[in-house]
Amino acid sequence: MTTSYVQEIPGLGRATGKLTGRVAFVTGGTRGIGAAIARSLAGQGATVAVGYCNDSAEDFVANLTEQAQAHRATASAHQGDISSAADCRRTIAEVIETHGRLDILVNNAGITMDKTVAAMTEEDWYTVLAVNLSGAFFLSQAALAHMVERGTGRIVNVSSVVGETGNIGQANYAAAKSGLFGLTKTLAKEAASQLDKSGLRTDYGIGITVNAVTPGLIATEMTDRIPERVMSKLTSQIPVGRAGRPEEVARVVHFLAADASAYLTGQVWSVNGGMDM
Ligand SMILES: NC(=O)c1ccc[n+]([C@@H]2O[C@H](COP(=O)([O-])OP(=O)(O)OC[C@H]3O[C@@H](n4cnc5c(N)ncnc54)[C@H](OP(=O)(O)O)[C@@H]3O)[C@@H](O)[C@H]2O)c1
Repeated sequence: MTTSYVQEIPGLGRATGKLTGRVAFVTGGTRGIGAAIARSLAGQGATVAVGYCNDSAEDFVANLTEQAQAHRATASAHQGDISSAADCRRTIAEVIETHGRLDILVNNAGITMDKTVAAMTEEDWYTVLAVNLSGAFFLSQAALAHMVERGTGRIVNVSSVVGETGNIGQANYAAAKSGLFGLTKTLAKEAASQLDKSGLRTDYGIGITVNAVTPGLIATEMTDRIPERVMSKLTSQIPVGRAGRPEEVARVVHFLAADASAYLTGQVWSVNGGMDM
C-alpha cells in the first residue's frame, strides 16, 4: 500500500512534494504578510495569483514572475474589492480561467478601523466585517466549489491574535477575526463531508483542508500606524522580545498548503512569539 501524498500533475510529471504545479491565490498579496506568503509559495514552486485593491501590483508581479520562472511557474495579479461578493466571485473565476485551476486560497487581505465601542460608527463596524470576514466567506465559497469538483484544495484564513484575546479599540476587528474561527471550522467540516459524498476522498489523498493562522504583532504597514510608545509596550509583552516578520507567518502558511499536510484541518495556528499562551 502506498503512503505517498505525491500526486501526478499533467505536464509536470511527479510533483516534488512541495508546491510544483499548484496554483495559489493570495488576497492582499502585494504588501506586508500577503507579499511574504506569495513569495514563499512561489519559492516552493507554486504559480501565484495575487489579489490587490488599491495598490499597484505591476512591479510586485514582475518580480514574482521572475521568481516563479525558476520553477516553470508563473504569476498574475487580480484587482478586486473583497468587501464585494461579486468581486470575490469574479476574482476566483479569473484565477481559474487564467491558470486552469486553483489549489490554494489564502484569505489574507484585511483592514483595521480602530475606535472604542463608544466611538465606533456603523460604517466602522460594517466595513471591517465586510472586508475581514464576509470577504473570506465569499472567496472560500467560490473556491470550495471548484476544489470539491477537483477533489483537492487548501484554504488558509489569516486571522489574528486579537481574535483570540480581544483588544481595546478593536471590537470590529476582533469580532471579524474570531468570526474566521467559526468559518474555518465549518468550512473544514463541510469540505471533508462534500469530498466524501463526491466519492473523491481516499485515505492517502491530498484532500481539502481549511485552517486559520493567527499572527501576533507583525511588522508591516498595518503596524507602522501604531505609535512608537505603544509598539515598545507591546513588544515588551512578547516573550520572544520583538515583533514578528511577515516571512515567519508565511512559513506556517506554506506548511499548511503542502500536500502532506492532509491530516491538519479545522485548526487555529498561532504565530505570535508566545504573546498568547
Ligand atoms: N501586521 C500585523 O501585526 C497583523 C497581526 C495579525 C493579523 N494580521 C492580519 O494579516 C493580514 C495582512 O496584514 P498586513 O499587516 O500585511 O496588512 P497591510 O500591510 O495593511 O496589507 C493589507 C492588504 O490587504 C489588502 N486589502 C485591504 N482592503 C482590501 C479590500 N477591500 N479588498 C481587497 N484587498 C484589500 C491590501 O490591498 P491594497 O494595498 O491593494 O489596498 C493589502 O494588500 C490582515 O488580514 C491582518 O488583519 C496582521
